[in-house]
Amino acid sequence: MYDYLIVGSGLFGSVFAHEAKKKGYKCLVVEKRNHIGGNIYTYEKDGINIHKYGAHIFHTSSQEAWDYINQFASFNNFINSPIANYKEEIYNLPFNMNTFSRMWNIKTPKEAQEIISKQRSEIKEINNLEDQAISLVGHDIYEKLIKGYTEKQWGRSCSELPPEIIKRLPVRYTYDNNYFNDRYQGIPIGGYTQIIEKLLDGIEVRLNTDFCKAKEELSKLAKKILYTGALDAYFDYSLGYLQYRSERFELERVEEENYQGVAVVNYTEREIPYTRIIEHKHFEKSSSPVTYISKEYPVDYKETGEPYYPINDKANMELYNKYKELAKTDEKLILGGRLALYSYFDMDKTILASLELSKNSLK
Ligand code: FDA
Repeated sequence: MYDYLIVGSGLFGSVFAHEAKKKGYKCLVVEKRNHIGGNIYTYEKDGINIHKYGAHIFHTSSQEAWDYINQFASFNNFINSPIANYKEEIYNLPFNMNTFSRMWNIKTPKEAQEIISKQRSEIKEINNLEDQAISLVGHDIYEKLIKGYTEKQWGRSCSELPPEIIKRLPVRYTYDNNYFNDRYQGIPIGGYTQIIEKLLDGIEVRLNTDFCKAKEELSKLAKKILYTGALDAYFDYSLGYLQYRSERFELERVEEENYQGVAVVNYTEREIPYTRIIEHKHFEKSSSPVTYISKEYPVDYKETGEPYYPINDKANMELYNKYKELAKTDEKLILGGRLALYSYFDMDKTILASLELSKNSLK
C-alpha cells in the first residue's frame, strides 16, 4: 500500500513527491504523457534545449522558491526582453521608453507621459476590453501592440471581450527592456527536465498511465490521492466541461545560426495567425550552427486536447465550484496544481503552493 498516489508528474506533483519521500512516505506517481515534467518539460536537439510546451522563464521575488529550485539546477542570467513585430515595425516590450521613442520619435519620459495621458483621456466609458486597454495606454499602443495579439489569443474581437481580462498594463517611463520586475530570473542550464528527474529520484513513476481511465483500480493502491489533473476529468465530466484556451506549437529546424536574435518575438498584427515565435537557443546561448523555432498558434482546447489557460469567467467558475464541492465528499482526495485548481500559476507559485501543502499534510 502506498501512502500517496500522485496523479501528474508536473512541478506540483514532483515537489510534493520529493518532500513526501524525504519524510519517509511511500509514493507512486502516475503520468498520462510519455514523459515526466508536465508543461515545463524540455528535451535536447542539436545541443539546444527545446521548451516543448512553450517558453518557460523562471522568475520570482520569493527567496524560498529561488533557493528551492536552485537545489536541483544551476541557473544562468537570462533576462526576458521580448520584441514586438507589428507589420515589420520592431518595438521593445514591455512598454517602456524604448517602445515610446520608436513609436513617436520622442526622447523624454515627460513627452511620453503627455502623449499617453492625452490618448487615455479620449475614453469616457469602459464597456469592453478595447475601451479598457485604450484607457490604460492610449490608442497608438493599443492599435499596434495589443489589439491584434489579444484578438488572436482569445479568438474574439477586443470590442466583444470583457474589460476584466486586462486589469493592468504596466507602462514604464524608463529605458528598461527587462520584462519581469522580479528579483530573480533565469533558465536552468541544461533545461528543466533534470529538475523533475532529481525531484523524482528514487520514486516509482508509471508513464503512459491515465488515472481517469483506471480510477477505481489505482485509487485502491494508496491511502491518499494527490490529483493534479483537470477536475472535470476526475469526475468524468459529469457536471459539464470546463473551458480553456490552448496553443499549438509548431517546431521548425532552421539551417541558420541565428534566426531572430532574441528568444521571444510577439507578432502583434491580426493577419499573422501565430502570436509568438520562440527561438529556443537564446535561452541558454547555445552555439549550435543550426536553430529551432516554435510558432505559437492560439487555438480552442478541443483542437489540441491540452488545457493551458483556464477561462475564469462566471459560468466556468460556477461549474468549477460545483466540482470542488463534489471533491470535498471524497476523503482520500487532495487537489493541487494549476489544472485541479483551475488557475494559472507561474512556476514559483507552483513550488510555493506545493511546499505549503507538504508542510500542512506531511507530519
Ligand atoms: P502541469 O500541467 O505542468 O502538470 C500536470 C501533469 O499532470 C501533466 O504532466 C499531465 O500530463 C498530468 N496529468 C493530467 N491529468 C492526468 C491524468 N488523468 N492521469 C495522469 N496524469 C495526468 N511559468 C513560469 O513561471 N514562467 C513561464 O515562462 C511560463 N510559461 C508558460 C507557458 C505556457 C504556454 C503555459 C501553459 C504555462 C507557462 N508557465 C510558466 C506555467 C507553468 O507551466 C506552470 O507553473 C507549471 O507547469 C505548473 O505545474 P503543474 O504540476 O501544476 O501542472
